[in-house]
Amino acid sequence: MFQENFVWGVADSAFQVEGKDVTDGSGMTVWDTYCAEGHIFDGQDAKVACDRLHKYPEDFALMKELGVKNYRFSVNWARILPEGTGKVNEQGIAFYKDMLKEMKKNGITPYLTMFHWEYPQVLQDKGGWLNPDSVEWFGEYAKVIAENFSEDCEYFFTFNEPQCFVGLGYLRGAQAPGMMLPQKDVFQITHNVLKAHGTAVINLRKYAKRPIKIGYAPTCGVALPASDRPEDIEAARETYLGLNIPMDNWTWNVVWFSDPVFLGKYPEAGLKKFAEYLPEITEEDMKLIHQPLDFMGQNIYNGYYVRRGEDGSIEDVKRPVGYAKTAVNWPVTPECLYWGCKFLYERYQMPIYITENGMSCHDVVSLDGKVHDPNRIDFLERYLAAIQKAIEEGVDIKGYFEWTFLDNFEWTHGYNERFGLVYVDFATQKRIPKDSAYWYKEVMESNGASLFVNWEGK
Ligand code: BGC
Repeated sequence: MFQENFVWGVADSAFQVEGKDVTDGSGMTVWDTYCAEGHIFDGQDAKVACDRLHKYPEDFALMKELGVKNYRFSVNWARILPEGTGKVNEQGIAFYKDMLKEMKKNGITPYLTMFHWEYPQVLQDKGGWLNPDSVEWFGEYAKVIAENFSEDCEYFFTFNEPQCFVGLGYLRGAQAPGMMLPQKDVFQITHNVLKAHGTAVINLRKYAKRPIKIGYAPTCGVALPASDRPEDIEAARETYLGLNIPMDNWTWNVVWFSDPVFLGKYPEAGLKKFAEYLPEITEEDMKLIHQPLDFMGQNIYNGYYVRRGEDGSIEDVKRPVGYAKTAVNWPVTPECLYWGCKFLYERYQMPIYITENGMSCHDVVSLDGKVHDPNRIDFLERYLAAIQKAIEEGVDIKGYFEWTFLDNFEWTHGYNERFGLVYVDFATQKRIPKDSAYWYKEVMESNGASLFVNWEGK
């Protein structure tokens, strides 16, 4: 079962929900530019998104009504520091302060992510994460965050999914800012991002107005054992915590991003494999990156199967014909939460929050005016049962943030994917809680007791 103080919540991010108000003094992010360049499904953009800018009192009241007590959100760096550094935009600060006030009013505990990909365009124009100064830029941003929001917020995350914004943004050119840089640059960027993480942790603590708790929210697909054979479990562990990945997608791994943060060193296998591309890495850098943290976050959505072959090598195992998948074609593999948490806990020994997990469905408003999403309920039932199993086996999982509260701007997919517990009619901005929202309310209120896995005589 889930421990008594298990944190049940929902998550989203600034760019995906807020929308824009050109008069409010905010700066542009690389995602504004990427949208304007026409890279999004059907030419869409995030100028309105869920209009969180104006609708937050209503949204937090709805969260309360739906039993949500914990909310992971992000701050748009360019909204509070339009130039990336220097002059603070007081209107932006006021917006987030008021958001925090409204959360408090509705009994919602905030979990603030500093960076969910909202990179100020002006900083990108100065070389972005490749510029060695980017470490200090992020440090300055952390200071502004701590000074302004620590009174009303106790929980912070530095980065969301560095694997994605580095890999998709700078290696594969598939997300903002859409670059395909040489490997050397991408390794330098990663090193700068990790140093920026360390600098931010120091500054968050230094400038916070009270003791705060800090984590980090990376991601990666989970290698799953194709059977219960110990050899297959070992093959999955080795793969998940290894670096056997093609170079054109090398950022898609756990250890290069988490070992330095939690263990204070890059994995040996990577230092060898990537040697020709690596920047100068000093002892001082590693000390900076390895700051004490209070917990680890991990975004986990799915996994893939491996087994130990006859000759001792690790083999990929095909998914079964007709396997279950989400609307965005991601496989449904609930056991990824069990194995992912287990493997991460073994390696890092840190309390874990699942900072994102959820699914996109083809949700529609039915003739009865409601949104029936049995697939999402079934998905969450299975995934949460996997978390419960890991907890029962001793893995210290502190909380779970469902992705996401509202249907929102799903990056390059625009509004074509619906990940929300609450349906959004983007023409009217009307919110309609889906069946899953009411189901999740019960799960949260019963601390998981209402899950199918816990039904007597099921
Ligand atoms: C990201 C979210 C995104 C979700 C679904 C994660 O990779 O952090 O911003 O919406 O997955 O694609």
